[in-house]
Amino acid sequence: MERRGFLKSLFSVLSLTALASFIYPLFKFLSPRAVSARLKKVTIARKDVPAGGAFKVNVNDTPVIVIHHPNKGYIALSRVCTHLGCLVDYDSATGRIICPCHGANFTVEGKVISGPAPRPLKKMPLLLKGDSILIG
Ligand code: FES
Repeated sequence: MERRGFLKSLFSVLSLTALASFIYPLFKFLSPRAVSARLKKVTIARKDVPAGGAFKVNVNDTPVIVIHHPNKGYIALSRVCTHLGCLVDYDSATGRIICPCHGANFTVEGKVISGPAPRPLKKMPLLLKGDSILIG
């Protein structure tokens, strides 16, 4: 192969590689995700969440807190604070969910009471089935 032919081939290969490295991420970004097919439900036992208590679990990489409120039943919320993403905790003494980072307070249903959090905590789907709780 002559030098000119080799350089042409090399340029073609490099051009195609550069084009592919641009098109593939664009294609991945624009193609619809099959998220629901990959999401899994997590099962915990009801006895793990006593009345007035809470249980922490990860559901599809989301930290979740399951609260058993004596009047409102079982509630599952994302633990990710809507301010800057710290993990919130349930305070059974006050019946509130508190963010340790900047002091946001939420109701057991995830609504903002006070603090810098701009939005309520995300509710997670929850289903009671016999002695189990399915989350996700
Ligand atoms: S991260 Fe929760 S209040 Fe700032």
